[in-house]
Amino acid sequence: MKKLLLLAMLSCSMVLACSKRGVTTDPNPTAPVVPVVPDNTTLQNSLPFPFGAAVNIGLLKTNTAYRATVVKEYSSLTAENAMKTGSLHPQQNTYDWTDADYLVDFAKQNNKRIHGHTLVWYKSLPAWITNFQGDAAAWENLLKTHIQTIVTHFKGKVASWDVVNEAFEDDGTLRNSIWLQKLGPDYIARSFQYAHEADPDALLFYNDYGHEYGPTKRTAILNLVNNLKTRGIPINGIGMQMHTRYNMTESNWLTAITTAAQTGLKVHISELDIAMNPDDNQSLTLTPALAQTQAQKYAYIVKAYNAIPKTQQFGITTWNVSDADTWITGNYNRPDWPLPFDNNYNRKPAYQGILDGVK
Ligand code: XIL
Repeated sequence: MKKLLLLAMLSCSMVLACSKRGVTTDPNPTAPVVPVVPDNTTLQNSLPFPFGAAVNIGLLKTNTAYRATVVKEYSSLTAENAMKTGSLHPQQNTYDWTDADYLVDFAKQNNKRIHGHTLVWYKSLPAWITNFQGDAAAWENLLKTHIQTIVTHFKGKVASWDVVNEAFEDDGTLRNSIWLQKLGPDYIARSFQYAHEADPDALLFYNDYGHEYGPTKRTAILNLVNNLKTRGIPINGIGMQMHTRYNMTESNWLTAITTAAQTGLKVHISELDIAMNPDDNQSLTLTPALAQTQAQKYAYIVKAYNAIPKTQQFGITTWNVSDADTWITGNYNRPDWPLPFDNNYNRKPAYQGILDGVK
């Protein structure tokens, strides 16, 4: 008994000694090493560009730890789902602004920027669009009315929009979406024009994933945005989702970021998360070593982003806040820990990694 007590006291004093050096070592070796960052240090105050999160409105309303973390850490917010077509425009003549307006009000009260996501996408399409019958002019009117009603509603409140999302397949061909089928390839350019007419002050982005996969998709995306720019289509930025994984080749991240910057447009890392279990191992746990690896990967991406010209740094947005809220676990049906906060909204080593990226 005495021995046990002594052991407990000893491990306590070890934790204290370690925390003075900047990290606490947990006697439980499967728990990640928690960074000791002063409580008044936050992501939004420490980074030289906006740092954002995608937010879930239900959690924002009901989970106090979630809400407090959002208020404290981030300067920019994207609605994870509340500004998608399925949420905002459920029927042809019905718009539901409830959740999106809640977020806009929350952002105003807490001095956050709102990035709008997304006006034209092949997913989150309500049945009235997929079943819509009409000639080319009717489809054009649908597109224009959809974009302009939404952008007008949020004029002066939403700083920027992902106008078109995921228009490419991974092989670099245009995705055979309903928009391409009904409107032809220039629906992309016209979507930007319609959005710009409705709010000339909003910054307009083309958003996609896979810039870091390799040259095929990346080149297709870069060719599109360069073509839009050359034609004088009002495009201001390129959004790289960066739903990535810890074992992606680092030079692929670097190339993705630097080539996006070479367009001269603003660059938004718009949906960052770093999956730690890309091989879907159902029994994997986040070991301290794996958590440290994740920290290094976050640091690498942030450092590469921080090196592009300041005027092009629109910001980095992670796709939600904590490992408890990530879409990755549900979407891929596996345990994973892709975000900088753990299930209890404690800062992970990845949080320290983000700060290290701008040292
Ligand atoms: C995801 C959300 O996170 C999920 O909650 C939803 O069920 C499906 O959409 N690329 C995008 C995002 O542009 O809108 C997606 O968000 C993730 C992939």
